Amino acid sequence: MALISPWRSDFPALAILEAQGQTYLDSAATSQKPQALIDALTGYYTSGTANVHRAQHQAAERTTRAFEKARVKVAHWLNARSPTEIVFTHGATEALNLLAYGLEHLLQPDDEIVVSALEHHANLLPWQQLARRRGARLVVLPLDADGLIDLHSATELIGPRTRLLAVSQLSNVLGAWQPLAQLLPLAKTQGALTIVDGAQGVVHGRHDMQALACDFYVFSSHKLYGPEGVGALYGRGESLLKLDHWQYGGEMVRVADFQSAEFHAAPLGFEAGTPPIGAVIGLGATLDYLSRLDATSVAAHEHKLHEQLLTGLVARPGVQLLGQPQTALASFTVNGIHHGDLAHLLTEQGIAVRSGSHCAQPLMKTLGIEGAIRVSLGLYNDGDDLQRFFTALDRALELLL
Ligand code: ALA
Repeated sequence: MALISPWRSDFPALAILEAQGQTYLDSAATSQKPQALIDALTGYYTSGTANVHRAQHQAAERTTRAFEKARVKVAHWLNARSPTEIVFTHGATEALNLLAYGLEHLLQPDDEIVVSALEHHANLLPWQQLARRRGARLVVLPLDADGLIDLHSATELIGPRTRLLAVSQLSNVLGAWQPLAQLLPLAKTQGALTIVDGAQGVVHGRHDMQALACDFYVFSSHKLYGPEGVGALYGRGESLLKLDHWQYGGEMVRVADFQSAEFHAAPLGFEAGTPPIGAVIGLGATLDYLSRLDATSVAAHEHKLHEQLLTGLVARPGVQLLGQPQTALASFTVNGIHHGDLAHLLTEQGIAVRSGSHCAQPLMKTLGIEGAIRVSLGLYNDGDDLQRFFTALDRALELLL
């Protein structure tokens, strides 16, 4: 029996895409949006906008309350100890850049920043550039054959010079949960700070910051069915105190004089300028929507879809999966076929998947490939989406092989 998503009709764009002959299988790049979010944005923009934390008038008070309520919702979603541990940013990339600047003062020449070989550019380039600015070394943890960060090597490479460990929770290319429970303590033992890129992980399941025990965790709203232009930096209370301010302007300053100024602590001290107010409120509404879903049913649905995806892919001759995908997505190449040619034929048949290096060029080099096709799933996908994908894939392979 075909797998049906009971939540598909909550996402109006799916029906429109379908009517246009489009099958959306690119949710790891960005997700479609629920009606609950669209209603919240319409409500906010039609009921009188105002800036936050700045004025006493009624609209400003109402907006500030809604904005701060969204912070509470994010804190609750992540089981942070307090909403003050949530800093709104413009996305995961900005949050990682904030950290790379905010923690710069802790780095001395020959200190080490440890990342892994599977990192998205967003969790590689800020650290690479920080290392260059400070004369520090960037240490890259290798992967094992399943696409997991190799713990044996990590034990050897994380050492007394390690100051920062920055790793992804769920790879955007390999679809594998990384062994954070073993990895983070290796860095902690050395007194290093730990940063987790939750851009993909946050979408699949709830993650408890107190249990994960990282210092910082970042995510973007747009992959989590929320609006673009907003993301969050979670920072453990005591870890946030280690950050230097990085962007200066309104909102983040407490007292200003011509020659000097004093700044707020987190979160406001790291939210310079007018924040993306509508998007923050929209993210809160999206989390409300997601909280109403039965998390076990969502996980079971995503699991079945993923199994069908893998079973279908490995059954096709010449298909090579990248790593051992565990959830949400699968990337693959086909022997003798350029991924760009295959992507072209899939696109022509209305299949929306991602093709290329997936913002992880060093990983592609490590794997000895130029690029791959990635199929990624959202909770709104169903068995028919996969059926259409496989029909299109078979037609494309017939033409190309
Ligand atoms: N990080 C997004 C992806 O993996 C854009 O597609």
